Amino acid sequence: KCRAEQLIDLSGEKIIVTAGGTVEPIDPVRFLTNRSSGKMGYALAENAAAFGADVTLVHGPVRLADIPGVEMVETVTADEMASEVLKRYEEADVVIMAAAVADYRPEKFYDEKVKKSDGDWNLRLVRNVDILKLLGERKTKQKLVGFAAETENLLENAQKKLTEKNVDLLVANDVSRKDVGFGSDENEVFLLFRNGAKKKISKTSKEKIAQDVLSELSSL
Ligand code: CTP
Ligand code: CA
Repeated sequence: KCRAEQLIDLSGEKIIVTAGGTVEPIDPVRFLTNRSSGKMGYALAENAAAFGADVTLVHGPVRLADIPGVEMVETVTADEMASEVLKRYEEADVVIMAAAVADYRPEKFYDEKVKKSDGDWNLRLVRNVDILKLLGERKTKQKLVGFAAETENLLENAQKKLTEKNVDLLVANDVSRKDVGFGSDENEVFLLFRNGAKKKISKTSKEKIAQDVLSELSSL
């Protein structure tokens, strides 16, 4: 175990981590989702548990093995993820929203497979709840960690999310890069704090980033 790990003590902390992309069904065979692999959130959950925290991982459909010692809660849609997080929120000390929650879902679910017609199909999408924003509004004692996935104006957009969602620590992610981020085992991020401080974590494993994030969290 690395040195950082020996110094971080999260024992007694109840931590909810979310991971993976949500899946929004259209009909029995079709759905909308995104490129999130869940690896960042899983690394956070695994390391938080190793540092002694009591961890619940609320995840979307991902291709990753369950983590021993972590309460695993499987969800599909953003709505399901929201309700699983909200029902545990009051008791939680920390929520880390690493999931790539779908911003929109199809307005209706078709019970039968939609047959194609000669014309085009206009699929109407409606807004999902912004889980992190809601947590920010209902915050009492909890610390909130958010992520920002951006393809442009990384720091500016991330700063806005930190403020607008009442987050304590924001991890800013450039998802336009091919070598890091979505799907990769590595990432390069900026950590943004409420007091305006910023820290860059240069390209490294998601494992190391998870440890650095948890280390910052433990000193908040
Ligand atoms: N998030 C959330 N619920 C949503 C959408 C996002 O809780 N419906 C959380 C994510 O888990 C992440 C943070 O909000 O921690 C930022 O997500 P991101 O997609 O980067 O930003 P959005 O606020 O959704 O804005 P946009 O996608 O337009 O950039
Ligand atoms: Ca979004």
